[in-house]
Amino acid sequence: MDKLFINGTRALRGTVTAHGAKNAVLPIMAACLLSEDTSVIENVPCVTDVITMIEILRRLGVRVLFSGDRLTVTPGQYAGTEASHELVRRMRASICVLGPLLAKQHKAQVSMPGGCVIGVRPIDLHQKGLQALGAAIAIEHGYVIAVAPALHGARVHLGGAFGSSVLATGNVLMAATLAHGTTVIEQAACEPEVTDLADFLAAMGAKISGQGTPVIRVEGVERLHGANFRIIPDRIEAGTLMIAAAITGGDITIEGARADHLGAVIDKLTEAGAAVDASNGSIRVRAAQPLKAVDVTTLPFPGFPTDLQAQMMALMAVSRGVSVLTEKVYPERFMHIAELNRMGAAITREGSSAIIKGVNRLSGAPVAAPDLRASAALILAGLAAEDQTEFVGIEHLERGYQNLEDQLTRLGASIRRAEERGA
Ligand code: EPU
Repeated sequence: MDKLFINGTRALRGTVTAHGAKNAVLPIMAACLLSEDTSVIENVPCVTDVITMIEILRRLGVRVLFSGDRLTVTPGQYAGTEASHELVRRMRASICVLGPLLAKQHKAQVSMPGGCVIGVRPIDLHQKGLQALGAAIAIEHGYVIAVAPALHGARVHLGGAFGSSVLATGNVLMAATLAHGTTVIEQAACEPEVTDLADFLAAMGAKISGQGTPVIRVEGVERLHGANFRIIPDRIEAGTLMIAAAITGGDITIEGARADHLGAVIDKLTEAGAAVDASNGSIRVRAAQPLKAVDVTTLPFPGFPTDLQAQMMALMAVSRGVSVLTEKVYPERFMHIAELNRMGAAITREGSSAIIKGVNRLSGAPVAAPDLRASAALILAGLAAEDQTEFVGIEHLERGYQNLEDQLTRLGASIRRAEERGA
């Protein structure tokens, strides 16, 4: 695996364009399984999670072409019903084939996702929702085995201990499109990626209303057809770049970033002292170092996204004063604290909160990323740190960011990639 060598303390300046949203395209690729026809999806990011989902679809018997940022998905009369342990182990989001397989093939075997460094990640809400639609679900030999000769509409409440669930909402939504009758999903996730999925399903002929609100209504239809669709910009990539501007005292414009998807992030960066201008389909962030401490709590949309918690913590590490960051979506998502502290940050954990005492400077160090978003946080910390940071964990970064290192380099960062053995 390659390593990155980052030389910090350079203010980033310039313009970059947001790629399409990873967390929107993954369930949309799964939704293609609901029709035999070809669907064409544009603005697809080239990240390894998309490659894994392509492999899942191909093993089910679906034809998939990926060229440039365009995916062409032709399910035809695919016969597969299984997502193997080997693939689900690589990417927990594989669970989103459960709903479409059940609706179209009337059965599905999907390896049960395990926990991971960001937490336990149960699937009880997926099960509850699909059972309400008439599926029989059992866990056997590490697999979720679901069977439903016919699905019917139902009223489903999808609230869990940590609020709504993005992919459980997606699974029930997808299954409901082909169920007999009306489904009402209460406490549905309101994330823009769920809205994008609903919009894609509507483009396939599904009858859906209420997407983007906590109550989604679906009238089942006989069949869905293929659709042409463009994926929304990635709000987490855009937010990461916004924080990169703030942490380096830079001035970055992100073309294509949607302010209506990033309200909580804009609010917190502004409160910390950055100047954020959102107009004409782009977001510009300017900052003079150091920024002020702020308190942030992660919440389901439209709250501050958990997928930007680690990056925000890197910024807080060099802000003036004491910040409190509370994680309400994944209370265990704090593996990056130890790595940030190795760079000189002063962060302690109190249950599901982190107390961050801002320091004047971070210092470059060898760091290892435990997961995708933590990898972005460590790179941002490296951009703010004195001297060189040696970053290991590029395989995590590449699951969800397309060429982040090139984007940052074009903005003036000093990042060099080297093979681990030659480094
Ligand atoms: N939860 C349950 N039961 C369930 C499902 C979820 O208790 O059946 C809990 C989870 O443990 C968590 C909370 O509900 O505490 C929210 O989890 P959610 O189900 O919304 O997460 P997800 O749908 O599995 C998606 C994103 C994640 C992102 C979360 C939260 C995709 C592919 N993944 O996961 O993205 O953190 O929503 O916004 O859309 C990432 O991109 O780095 C990433 C982890």
